[in-house]
Amino acid sequence: MTMERREPVEAVVARLLAAQGERRGALLPLLHDLQEELGFVGEETVAAVAHAMNLSRAEVHGVVSFYHDFRKAPAGRHVVKYCRAESCRSRGGVAIETALADRLRVAMGETRADGQVTLEPVYCLGLCAIGPNALVDGAPVARIDGAAAIERIAATVAA
Ligand code: FES
Repeated sequence: MTMERREPVEAVVARLLAAQGERRGALLPLLHDLQEELGFVGEETVAAVAHAMNLSRAEVHGVVSFYHDFRKAPAGRHVVKYCRAESCRSRGGVAIETALADRLRVAMGETRADGQVTLEPVYCLGLCAIGPNALVDGAPVARIDGAAAIERIAATVAA
């Protein structure tokens, strides 16, 4: 969870860019650093990065849009990342995803209107043999195979 930010986004970009050292000028690591610090990479950040790196907004936006990891808006209080990769899919992952989204009352890739939970896709957590899997606030949850598992996730994000 990110704290309330007081430093202007341009200053954050400049500071993180300077901290890159030998990686200076590497767009992808900078965007990851920004998401880590700010919690998301919104339009204001895209504009600041483009300006600082002498790139067009479209170039920066293209990178942010291409990678699933980047959030374009702040996340909810809880973040559920549900695995959409092949092994979890083959274990009933599509039906479970639908049931999970219904139970959490949030669409995949969205944050619920009350800000309580964000549901995001992730593509393999390295736990393929015990899927379908998710990360709930960074903690792995395996064998999401029915209503009981979904209820445990719902209880976690209700807190
Ligand atoms: S496919 Fe889901 S954890 Fe690997």
